Amino acid sequence: MSLIINIYYTGKNKSAIEFAKEMISSGLVDQIRNEKGNKRYEYFFPEQDPETVLLIDEWENEEALDLHHKSSMMAEIAELRKKYNLKMRVERYTNDFETVIRKRTATRKFKEEKIDREKLNKILEAGRIAPTAKNLQPQKIYVASSKEALEKIDKVSPCRYNAPTVLIVCSDKEIAWEKEGESTYEMDATIVATHMMLEATNIGVDNIWIKMFDKNKLKEEFKLGENIEPICLIPLGYKAEDYQGNPLHNVRKDLEETVTFL
Ligand SMILES: Cc1cc2nc3c(=O)[nH]c(=O)nc-3n(C[C@H](O)[C@H](O)[C@H](O)COP(=O)(O)O)c2cc1C
Repeated sequence: MSLIINIYYTGKNKSAIEFAKEMISSGLVDQIRNEKGNKRYEYFFPEQDPETVLLIDEWENEEALDLHHKSSMMAEIAELRKKYNLKMRVERYTNDFETVIRKRTATRKFKEEKIDREKLNKILEAGRIAPTAKNLQPQKIYVASSKEALEKIDKVSPCRYNAPTVLIVCSDKEIAWEKEGESTYEMDATIVATHMMLEATNIGVDNIWIKMFDKNKLKEEFKLGENIEPICLIPLGYKAEDYQGNPLHNVRKDLEETVTFL
């Protein structure tokens, strides 16, 4: 189990970047990294927002985080935050595997708010390391987030649900493993998509798997090659405040119905 804390510091005239630089140069970051139970303490500088710095810290457990909060360093950090006059937004999640697979659920109403590039990269990376037949990695992932690209998605599917980013998960049939007419192109891309979906949930990005789209129209709109087979769409973002959740999420068959011991 570990606890992940994301803190977004936002200021003016690049003060958030100055703050992060001073945290590093003062030695505070190194001291925190040496604290008991700290697994990560790292700043990111989102490309699309120069006024915001993202801190990702990770702790072995609640106790380690408590100790950190009680340490003398907290006063120094608060002082620096005051000096640079920064606003702070905190996200917190426990990313043990059990929590992630139970928490993942279909989101059918998203806010406008975009996900930042660091998070998107983490999601794409989770797809990159997925297993594929013969390790041929036939997946081709297209990231639709521009206005034009999202408009095209809306032309081919009713299921974007206002998400600001949509992954178009495809598979290159010419790259995928094939024998005697059987190909793993779909399986490979499905595993990649599953990895990305679970990582999205892991880092607090809501998502859904979409099969309802016009494949030929999608290929045409995005000018995909003949050999590129769209497998699914994954809208990504943050669920709308008033989204009620998917009523089917907790409706699952008993194991006796789906598993047979032979
Ligand atoms: C292969 C697959 C295709 C799906 N296609 C769609 C879709 O086209 N539109 C949609 O709204 N939801 C779609 N879903 C979402 C499912 O309805 C949802 O995952 C299911 O009800 C289980 O709920 P949960 O994801 O909240 O646990 C799809 C899910 C999967 C796995």
